[in-house]
Amino acid sequence: MTPVAAKPAAGSPQARMEIPGSMYPAGAPSFGFLQETRTISPSAGQTQPEPAGIEPNVPHELNLSSYSFDAKALKRDFPILRERVNGRPLVWLDNAATTQKPQSVIDRLKYFYEHENSNVHRAAHELAARATDAYESAREKVRRFLNASSAREIIFVRGATEGINLVAQSWGRRNIQKDDEIVITWLEHHANIVPWQMLCAEKGAKLRVAPVDSTGQILLDEYEKLLGPKTRLVALPQVSNALGVVPPAVEMIEAAHRHGAKVLLDGAQSVSHMRVDVQSLDCDFFVFSGHKVFAPTGIGVVYGKPEVLEHMPPWQGGGNMIQDVTFEKTVYQAPPQRFEAGTGNIADAVGLGAAIDYLDRAGMANISRHEHGLLVYATEQLQQIPGLKIIGTAKEKAGVVSFILDGFRNEEIGDYLNRNGIAVRSGHHCAQPILRRFGLESTVRASLALYNTGEDIEALVTAIWNLRLGRTSIA
Ligand code: ALA
Repeated sequence: MTPVAAKPAAGSPQARMEIPGSMYPAGAPSFGFLQETRTISPSAGQTQPEPAGIEPNVPHELNLSSYSFDAKALKRDFPILRERVNGRPLVWLDNAATTQKPQSVIDRLKYFYEHENSNVHRAAHELAARATDAYESAREKVRRFLNASSAREIIFVRGATEGINLVAQSWGRRNIQKDDEIVITWLEHHANIVPWQMLCAEKGAKLRVAPVDSTGQILLDEYEKLLGPKTRLVALPQVSNALGVVPPAVEMIEAAHRHGAKVLLDGAQSVSHMRVDVQSLDCDFFVFSGHKVFAPTGIGVVYGKPEVLEHMPPWQGGGNMIQDVTFEKTVYQAPPQRFEAGTGNIADAVGLGAAIDYLDRAGMANISRHEHGLLVYATEQLQQIPGLKIIGTAKEKAGVVSFILDGFRNEEIGDYLNRNGIAVRSGHHCAQPILRRFGLESTVRASLALYNTGEDIEALVTAIWNLRLGRTSIA
């Protein structure tokens, strides 16, 4: 196995450098949440107060202060959120499509290219050592972020879509045979449908789909009826991208395992909203995209249980994934390198590590509570607009409110909001089957992140009211 380059000796110039993102001095005031986090973080020895319930019908006051999460301060860490769009301050509510990047991530990328850039694992020089350390340290941060038991369970890919394709092409092609069954749900993003359809078509296997009720929640009984001796894999989202519904992943994974099936959990829409623990979820695979979690585009992750990864063949051949090559035979590396052919997206993996550092400081529990408050508030306020219908009303939701408004086309609503500086997605959200389940081809989707504030929700609600009342711009 190719050795990982050694760390620079203590006291060397590199060891003395301050690397942005992961090594800001503890007292540095650069990041809005640091003060808050030090006050409320359990690790700082403080008890974290329970969030108060959100008072209904309070348009101008969001009752979040009791747990001291200062989203306005966090927002200042994201330079793009200071942009003005169509003469208005930008309100970014398209976080399910992609999240914005904090200054620490931007700085970390710049630092990498200014001080560390090299290919990894392959050379005997100083920059290869720096780049390799930065890359492998990012892998370790991802391991901690997901609570995997070893960094060897973490494979870097381009994003969640590539991750699912990796599992389908490698595990799937080896383990799915004619007449086997793969179970997915009505909630899937196209990325968790199409690779399985392709595999089923190639192998003569069958795709079965667990239905949802009128709130968008999975019908557990119906799901369990789909499981049987032919079920080889279950693939489900931890949070639905189109509706924000959170399926009962733990129960669904347990049920799949009772039938001997493996489980892939699509975390593309969950990682920015909730703490993920792959060991307690007990999923066999977990995938996510860096860009949905404040990191750059083009970097993502596949987690796999070691005993499963060990028996998977490579899905792409090339450099880095080999131990030895002759014209007769190639010996492959162990995971994760076996699945990382070619030069990876080194800088953006390092950027992902910096994004995880940022989330660590903010605290996932704080983020979840804050966003839950915003979601409840947005739901309550939007529901008061005559003719507005929320699609996806399950009790368990995270980060997304999807809606339609009588008498208005969804593109028209998206355009009107854009003219008021508010970014949402209007369309099918790459999840046509679940929208069609509700008789729709599209919705307007507002999606949340840690930097959204009560004022952002108020801007959205006010704009929709104005559109409804026939006004042309926010007063
Ligand atoms: N998957 C992204 C979304 O839901 C692009 O918008």
